[in-house]
Amino acid sequence: MSFSNLMMASSKRAQSRFVLALDLEQDDRQILFRECNEILEDVHEYICAVKINRQLVLALGLPTVSQIVRKAHEYALPAIMDAKLNDVGHTNSFMMKSYVNAGFDAVIASPITGWSGGMDTVFEEARRNDKGVILLVYMSNPGAEEFYSMLTSTEDGRKPIFEVFAQMAVEWGADGLVVGATRSEIIRQVRTLVGPSMAIYSPGIGVQGGDAKKTVESGSTYLIVGRTIYASPSPKVAVRKLYESVK
Ligand code: XMP
Repeated sequence: MSFSNLMMASSKRAQSRFVLALDLEQDDRQILFRECNEILEDVHEYICAVKINRQLVLALGLPTVSQIVRKAHEYALPAIMDAKLNDVGHTNSFMMKSYVNAGFDAVIASPITGWSGGMDTVFEEARRNDKGVILLVYMSNPGAEEFYSMLTSTEDGRKPIFEVFAQMAVEWGADGLVVGATRSEIIRQVRTLVGPSMAIYSPGIGVQGGDAKKTVESGSTYLIVGRTIYASPSPKVAVRKLYESVK
């Protein structure tokens, strides 16, 4: 099954659009591993996927992270690696292979490299293994505007760079794109550009200021949430509240 279909099936089964960002911080590796598993166990019925960041891979190492991916799969949840890949082809290819071997179903990459000798190997590796590629189109942090809204010259005239990235995502056959939940107007514009079937993943709900309902109404498909869930005194209560807000 393609990654896009896997996500649709998971979202439908769980009746949820929420992707848990498992970014826990903890110096003790054993405690960190245990806490990740506990959070997953606690909230699994209210989410449709898990997203793991490079910070967890640095803290635990890929083989241990792979065990968390396996746990997500036991709950029938797809696992996304937020690698923001943006290197040259041969190293991108190696990183992509490593994440695929660790069991991830999709990887987030940055289109800033362009296709040839950059993103081409990421997509080749993904297609060879029936995995997904999600492209970063507009970040959620306050300073993102400085770059992602920068005007750039194209054959069709000047346009903001995020529009170019959104068009690349369509041309390259990406399985989704990332637009920050703090940017409702940009989500709307991107949705218009890419059409109804491209999945838009939006991080930045809660702690960063994004509102779940408003983000969905703007055109996002999946909502990526970290601290608002895992740093809450009761992650289960927090995720259920979010779940109810967009049900
Ligand atoms: P919080 O705790 O703010 O975590 O809910 C958000 C998660 O999403 C990631 N993040 C992003 N990933 N583009 C991305 O690809 C973004 O604009 C972006 N903003 C936040 C962040 O790494 C964390 O895992």
